[in-house]
Amino acid sequence: MSADPRLIIALDLPGRADAEAMVETLGDAVGFYKIGLQMLAVGGMEMAKDLKARGRQVFLDWKLHDIGATVEKATAAIVGSGACDILTVHAQPQVLAAAVKGRGSDKQAKIVGVTVLTSLNGQDLAQIGYGMGVEQLVERRIRQVIDAGADGVVASPHEAALARRIGGPDFLVITPGVRPAWAGKDDQARAATPLEALQSGASHLVVGRPVTAAADPRDAARRIADEMSGSLQPA
Ligand code: C5P
Repeated sequence: MSADPRLIIALDLPGRADAEAMVETLGDAVGFYKIGLQMLAVGGMEMAKDLKARGRQVFLDWKLHDIGATVEKATAAIVGSGACDILTVHAQPQVLAAAVKGRGSDKQAKIVGVTVLTSLNGQDLAQIGYGMGVEQLVERRIRQVIDAGADGVVASPHEAALARRIGGPDFLVITPGVRPAWAGKDDQARAATPLEALQSGASHLVVGRPVTAAADPRDAARRIADEMSGSLQPA
């Protein structure tokens, strides 16, 4: 079988051996993996290189946020490793501009902005000092991503439609918080099914525990891919 290129599995696992075993189990059912901060200290970049060598795509969810010069050099180094198809940075104008500059003319690696962390609510934003609510800030940052020449955003199912509407057809809208009807919600408060997320405008879905914690991860990934292709309607 060929994997659905829109399905990204989050390798949120304690160590490299666990991650490698999961990739082995999933086999050709999955072609795209997200490596996040949890794996950064336990060989995340080496894992990314191995995945690329095996023909998989890699989403590095490092959420960079620093002064422009540092973000630019870090992005250049990450993209230069050849082990990154998508890199996240915080969606702030200076950070976005630096990442786009660091990525250079080779646009194979996509720069994606994290708008507002879904762990933050309106009260948190006020406490930090932002003078606007979550939705307003998300919209502002989507526009800043576009202005900077970056490629898309990470958006909750709730925000995917807004991102698609503002960003247009080629904008990347990468959506976590996806839960098939047959899976538990874990700590995802506002989950959507794979089909719902795609219908809202997601270009890619990020799924972790419904696959990696399933009794049969390969079967779980296949069922999600089937649901994405519309051949299996959510209950
Ligand atoms: O296991 P689960 O499917 O909830 O994993 C979702 C992945 O997406 C995790 O790696 C999580 O950090 C990430 N994520 C998220 N919500 C966001 C941004 C990222 O769940 N708003």
